[in-house]
Amino acid sequence: MRFDVDDFVEQCRAALDESEPQLAVRDVVARAVSQPAAIKAALGTPNGWKTEPLHIDDRFTVLHFIWPPTLELFPHEHKMWSTVGIYGGIEDNTLYRRDGDRVVVSGHRRGEAGDVLLLGADAIHSVENPSRQWTAAIHVYGSDFFAHPRLQWDLKTGEPQPFSLANSKALLAATEAHFRSEASGGPGV
Ligand SMILES: [Fe+2]
Repeated sequence: MRFDVDDFVEQCRAALDESEPQLAVRDVVARAVSQPAAIKAALGTPNGWKTEPLHIDDRFTVLHFIWPPTLELFPHEHKMWSTVGIYGGIEDNTLYRRDGDRVVVSGHRRGEAGDVLLLGADAIHSVENPSRQWTAAIHVYGSDFFAHPRLQWDLKTGEPQPFSLANSKALLAATEAHFRSEASGGPGV
């Protein structure tokens, strides 16, 4: 089966009109990530970090992420539900709860190719790629991902600061550069 971004976006848009929008979106995402080869044929074989918007409007956002090997992305909130579909590699999520201004770990969840993880609107998580392969995922968020101010927290101190997309991208780029400099060959797919 072919993966088509426009079709996928329209299926997500239709799912938003269901009585349980996030669960309906989960089904759309699950169907997509059950065919990793089709997604790779459409979006490219993972070979470098990426935060690629596939769709943005007031109701939902679709982002295509490629995490480099060994990535450790700091805790952050979204302030909207999210549905994480993984089609390559591993995404280790650490979940947090608030403790005053800081956050403390409340759980862990691993996602592998074919898995779909759901996060609620009040979720706080950090993301890690523990493997030496690229993590490839399609995330659907229940609003305009870029329009809402939100927080991130320092991984070591737990101190909050405004979320910065630029910081995230810089971390992805630095992690990839470090990995490539250490690796004798390139990372697998
Ligand atoms: Fe996130």
